[in-house]
Amino acid sequence: MKKKPVDQLSPRVARAEHALLGAEIAAHDRAYYQDDAPTISDADYDALRRRYNALEEQFPELLTAHSLSAKVGAAPSQKFAKVRHSVAMLSLGNVFADEEVYEFVARVKRFLGLAEDAPLAFVAEPKIDGLSCSLRYERGALVQAATRGDGFEGEDVTANVRTLADAPKHLRGDAPAALDVRGEVYMRHEDFKTLNLRQAEAGKPLYANPRNAAAGSLRQLDAAITASRNLHFFAYTWGEASELPAQTQTGMLAFFEKAGLPVNPLAKRCANADEMIAHYRLIEQKRATLGYDIDGVVYKVDDIGLQNRLGFASRAPRWAVAHKFPAERATTILRDIEIQVGRTGALTPVARLDPVTVGGVVVQNATLHNEDEIARKDIRIGDTVVVQRAGDVIPQVVEALLDKRPANAMPYAFPHICPACGSAALREMDESGAADVVRRCTGGLICPAQAVERLKHFCSRLAMDIEGLGDRQIELFYKQGIVKNPADIFTLQKRSARGAFDLTRWEGFGETSVRNLFVAIEAARKPALNRFIYALGVRRIGETNARRLARHFGSFEALRAAALTDDGLAEINAIDGVGAVVAEAVVDFFREAHNETVLDELLAEVAPQPMEAVAASSPVAGKTVVFTGSLERLTRDEAKAQAERFGAKVAGSVSKKTDLVVAGPGAGSKLAKAEELGIEVISEDDWFKRTGQE
Ligand code: IVH
Repeated sequence: MKKKPVDQLSPRVARAEHALLGAEIAAHDRAYYQDDAPTISDADYDALRRRYNALEEQFPELLTAHSLSAKVGAAPSQKFAKVRHSVAMLSLGNVFADEEVYEFVARVKRFLGLAEDAPLAFVAEPKIDGLSCSLRYERGALVQAATRGDGFEGEDVTANVRTLADAPKHLRGDAPAALDVRGEVYMRHEDFKTLNLRQAEAGKPLYANPRNAAAGSLRQLDAAITASRNLHFFAYTWGEASELPAQTQTGMLAFFEKAGLPVNPLAKRCANADEMIAHYRLIEQKRATLGYDIDGVVYKVDDIGLQNRLGFASRAPRWAVAHKFPAERATTILRDIEIQVGRTGALTPVARLDPVTVGGVVVQNATLHNEDEIARKDIRIGDTVVVQRAGDVIPQVVEALLDKRPANAMPYAFPHICPACGSAALREMDESGAADVVRRCTGGLICPAQAVERLKHFCSRLAMDIEGLGDRQIELFYKQGIVKNPADIFTLQKRSARGAFDLTRWEGFGETSVRNLFVAIEAARKPALNRFIYALGVRRIGETNARRLARHFGSFEALRAAALTDDGLAEINAIDGVGAVVAEAVVDFFREAHNETVLDELLAEVAPQPMEAVAASSPVAGKTVVFTGSLERLTRDEAKAQAERFGAKVAGSVSKKTDLVVAGPGAGSKLAKAEELGIEVISEDDWFKRTGQE
């Protein structure tokens, strides 16, 4: 539900919403800080906090000593002795947009009475996603360690922290008489994985993420358990100090490092907001390969004297801010579960969600993987679910939030019949007798969903590569009944000429696109054998196996004939890299009567070219080609694949052995080298002509 802007609320309604929100946030704080088991995503929590702060900004009378804005976290849990922080452990303000970084810098300068263009250095460092901890060193010796707790009072975790290799019991070199070193305790991804495996083996609950695992591991009453968890620590700030060994944040980080405390290697001094943002981008790029979770970048005024002048405003310092990464997890409502039927009949459950932004992208569909996963996570329609998007992978539903489950939500019954054709959908047994995780439609050739998926596969880039016949067009042609099997594609033009239909009148098609489509179809009549075999969509025949079959048999007729003889199975099985399961799938395919008809019809239209024949007849066969500069019509992968299809070898650098250089705009040293060696250089367009593609 969209909330009314705060400036449109009456004071009475605002007060009521503020109170309700306050209670909700407090409950989430307890779940997060005390139970290490948050029930909402960070993004949703931040949204609640933002709304709460906006209410207080609009209605300042709501900002009292009871306000959550005056508190950080939650009161410490009962099981540990309490430690009062002599200098409070506060939180950080968040920003999300670049613009807010410029505003932060301007605000700091204004506060300090500096001119807009006055120099002012900051330190940008990763925001580690763990739990903050204060380590007290007296005369260089570790004497106490405490969690943040509510910022004023934390938990005594000294015995636990003593088990961390990253928390030295003695500082190296000269140390102040008393110094609270503050930083983040965190768990690395690999250790998190191992821990959850161990938990699962022991039948114990799994940790939701490395941060919860770190918190749960540090807050163990038995320090031996903490010791077994391989926790790590980065030092990044300090609390009480009898004297400071440096005048800047950079200097303090250098001191920590010299003293033997781990410091994050990505901390960098920046001269202005542009440099800070550039460093943020760099850290964001490295994020996936760090091996531990970070959720943003913290910017801090470098000069400690200035930090002191800036001081704190309620929860957070004025001299620092967290620039958060866009959330990559969010919660939303699961509206429906739809079953997609793939080319080989696999039934895949897809979640239809209320649109939600995850990591900067609007997500409406997410995979639920398979039947077992839905059951294991007990995901039901109507549930509030956590959706995750990691990098470029398909978004996935991670879990359902049980406390938000509607009373009438029923466990999901995975269909046992194919939603597309009504045939039975079964889980095959593997060799060991265990049921496969995938349930498959047994409708095979009568299943329209499988037929459409097979056609899509047939036309796809690595198969017949028919431009203009994308998923949308295939679905339409299938539905309209003009393309039911692959051979129909090649008779489209003839049938259209006879007046069976007029594509140019169809929505989304014009004269030009229809002409281009027919040209593309004509160009596909002589596919390389391996591509043709792959395009048939035989189970277990991917690109590699298709190439093995093509190379072994040399022609399609030879493959087909072999598959139909008694020795066929053995012959295919004997091909290097091809096993019995694959051989059986090939033989089954050719022995299926319907496939025979489809193949005969198709072979009346197309003539697969033996790989060698394609290569040998091409003017670039046997040549060594180098692609350089930016190509406009081909990706690098495509260029390489094309060259190989025409029997050429692709090299990465120009040498005396190079026969041909294909140069696009911006070509530099490789082009120069080719000219120096007198090697033929052609353009990308020339390449298409030379290889007979135009
Ligand atoms: S400086 C006065 N630096 O983020 C607070 N905090 O949201 C100074 N955090 O409580 C904190 N990485 O637990 C600082 N490089 C970093 C950090 C960092 C993670 C955590 C810390 C803090 C929370 C605020």
